[in-house]
Amino acid sequence: MGSFLLYGTFPLCILTHMLNAELFVKILEVHLHAQAHVFHQDDWFLVQDNDPKHTAKMTKAWMEKNMPNKKINWPSQSPDINPIENLFVWVKQKLLKKGPKNITQLKKEFTDLWENINGNFLENYWRSMPKRCQLVIDNDGAK
Ligand SMILES: *[C@@H]1O[C@H](CO)[C@@H](O)[C@H](O)[C@H]1NC(C)=O
Repeated sequence: MGSFLLYGTFPLCILTHMLNAELFVKILEVHLHAQAHVFHQDDWFLVQDNDPKHTAKMTKAWMEKNMPNKKINWPSQSPDINPIENLFVWVKQKLLKKGPKNITQLKKEFTDLWENINGNFLENYWRSMPKRCQLVIDNDGAK
């Protein structure tokens, strides 16, 4: 699981179990706690889609208590305009070029790539979002 801000990525969380609401909340707790300096600032929002893990009662309750008014609801089934999906496509293309030979190498390549994503790249990326959304609107919901 990965997340990013305008100026950098949060540490990548490589999962070995199926992600459910309980694990999702645990990840939020651990990652957000580790990033307390960001968490306690006001200039961020969590963008997430309506995946059942994100909308589960337990997730909602945790968010309401720990990060009220920080969540932006995003339409489901809309990977074209989901910032993280677009970033993952870019990462997957890079990883395919590197051609990791096994899971160990894949984890290492993925982590190296993720941790070294440049802040300028992310800023340009975020700034392209209105244009991406407009393209979807102009094409009646298709890209
Ligand atoms: C994974 O692949 C790399 C590169 O081929 C190799 O050096 C390494 O020993 C492999 N690791 C495992 C656990 O197979």
